[in-house]
Amino acid sequence: MVVGLGTGSTAYFAVERLGEKLKSGELKDIIAIPTSERTREQAESLGIPLCTLNEKSVLDVAIDGADEVDPDLALVKGGGGALLREKMVEVMAKKFVVIVDESKLCKGLGPGFPLPVEITPFCHMHTLRTIAALPSVAGCEAVLRMGSSSTNKPDGDNIAVTDNGNYIVDLHFKEPIKDVNKAAEELKNTVGVVDHGLFVGMSYQVIVAGKDGIKVAGTDGEPAWW
Ligand code: A5P
Repeated sequence: MVVGLGTGSTAYFAVERLGEKLKSGELKDIIAIPTSERTREQAESLGIPLCTLNEKSVLDVAIDGADEVDPDLALVKGGGGALLREKMVEVMAKKFVVIVDESKLCKGLGPGFPLPVEITPFCHMHTLRTIAALPSVAGCEAVLRMGSSSTNKPDGDNIAVTDNGNYIVDLHFKEPIKDVNKAAEELKNTVGVVDHGLFVGMSYQVIVAGKDGIKVAGTDGEPAWW
């Protein structure tokens, strides 16, 4: 199988488990595609065979965390700054499996976690203002990510740079995004935007860890219960 490896503190454990299962021989004939430099380094350290989308452009499955999940299984991702590679890889997976704890479940995307947008460094403040003025995200506060690209809590004085050499603008919302599809479309159509952290219509299933154990939403699982 060709397996997409996500990025973040949750995906970390999935990557680790995959490495263990390959080592023990429980799994074999797997080649993986990492979604960030961090994950590539982790997978290499575990001896997981890797390739890129250049070699294998269809994945059997991809596994990743998320920052927010709504009842339609639409996601906000990119808190860890890896949204572009995550989307490029996960959109090519026959099954994109999302793993979260119940704190990530929400009724509407936006207020619970800032929406990251990856932009080109060229005239980045112009692009930031253009994004903030889009009707579909009206009322949001657009903040250029500073410090490490892997956290939206500013931890340095320099502009955060992604694995792709780009910048990130985090959109902070007070109210849920009214029309997620429209926001995705307007953001994607903005010149200077490389991609955004709305992952709509991509989730195959969402595995949720909670106080009462594990529950699954989506294909072969329950309809969203939150
Ligand atoms: C990385 O850019 C993100 O999309 C992460 O997958 C997402 O932020 C979830 O991360 P945690 O598992 O660390 O919460």
